[in-house]
Amino acid sequence: MTITHTLMFTAFPYICLTTFIVGHIYRYITDRFGWNAHSSEFLEKKYLFYGSILFHTGIIATFMGHAGGLLVPQPLYDMLGITAGMHTAIAHWNGLAVGLAAFVGVLLLVWRRLKQPRIKMVTTPTDKVLLAALAVVIGSGVYNVLFSQFDVLYNVAPWVRGIVTFTPDSTLMIEAPMSLQIHVISAWVLLAFSPFTRLVHIWSAPVFYLLRPFIIYRSRKGKV
Ligand code: HEM
Repeated sequence: MTITHTLMFTAFPYICLTTFIVGHIYRYITDRFGWNAHSSEFLEKKYLFYGSILFHTGIIATFMGHAGGLLVPQPLYDMLGITAGMHTAIAHWNGLAVGLAAFVGVLLLVWRRLKQPRIKMVTTPTDKVLLAALAVVIGSGVYNVLFSQFDVLYNVAPWVRGIVTFTPDSTLMIEAPMSLQIHVISAWVLLAFSPFTRLVHIWSAPVFYLLRPFIIYRSRKGKV
């Protein structure tokens, strides 16, 4: 095991996580009015509709799958009657479906940003890097689902849990194929980059808007 491997799978994730947290605080303090998704819907609707719906549905489902599959230990699934074989099959087929949706979606969004004249005019270098990074992370993820035979449940998942519990073990990733290493490292880089992009809109999802009453009745209390 080389020193580069050890640092990549122990120190690097913490550097990215720190940048992620400090970056969000900095962005919130210095650019509160720029904290949004920077919608371009009024400039072009058709391709955004297909690209954005495919991408958002796929990526949100992928996040949920990663959280449930990587953070919850297999013995807990065993207690629920979900064996390692069943877990792997569920992760494989669902991951493939939602990963492909996100990948096709992000490719459409990239194409829209590069080819639609009105969108091209408002696209910044940060937008291009962000969409390219998303395409690499999602594309390498789908590639691994299709072609990698690496045992995720007993290697990658415990490595991720080790990072969360401050006991990282880089030896778990020593046999990981290059495609998986690219997926994991590019995901950490994207996490660190996200506070400086339009991705900050994730944290302002209008969840409570759905629970809001249609008409807001004001109290007469205190009025003459
Ligand atoms: C949590 C729920 C989310 C909501 C409510 C949401 C909402 C939105 C909205 C309203 C837009 C603007 C679309 C337009 O141009 O009109 C947008 C764009 C975008 N979102 Fe989200 N989003 C969510 C989660 C995510 C996640 C998890 C990611 C990726 C990790 C993501 C990545 C993006 C990107 C890259 C764009 C820009 C697309 C483009 O214009 O090229 N979003 N989102």
